[in-house]
Amino acid sequence: MATEGHIIHFDKIGSEELGYISVAEYGKQIPFAINRVYWTYHTPVGIERGNHAHTRLHQVVIAVNGTLEISLENKAGQTNTFMLDHPAKGLYVPPGYWRTIRFSEGAVLLCLANELYDEQEYIRDYDSFKNGEP
Ligand code: TYD
Repeated sequence: MATEGHIIHFDKIGSEELGYISVAEYGKQIPFAINRVYWTYHTPVGIERGNHAHTRLHQVVIAVNGTLEISLENKAGQTNTFMLDHPAKGLYVPPGYWRTIRFSEGAVLLCLANELYDEQEYIRDYDSFKNGEP
């Protein structure tokens, strides 16, 4: 699997008249088997979510409504900021990135993940993230 965060472009099936459908399938757009789906909504504008890293988890994040600004920082301190501003865009987030997420009004974050929820594989302390094992 890729080791860097990057944007995924989903196909837009449909038309302006009918509306659109986008599809996420394992082995096609998604590089892992999906074992968990969660979504985040009614997030007040101005709130910063995330502020953690994962040791094992691979994710693809989609803004199914609104806009998400997601910053990914690696242990070396390099930060990339991605705008998810269309429902046909996703962001692949591999393990090992400290992420911060900002939501526009009404934004809904959909996350596809390769593992079930496990608090043990979270790193919630920034100094531990920067100074911990690679
Ligand atoms: P968290 O991953 O910290 O979300 P964010 O980084 O957006 O703030 O999760 C917030 C809370 O929800 C935390 O108490 C753990 C819980 N949670 C689950 O129980 N299962 C899950 O699959 C997820 C993603 C979170």
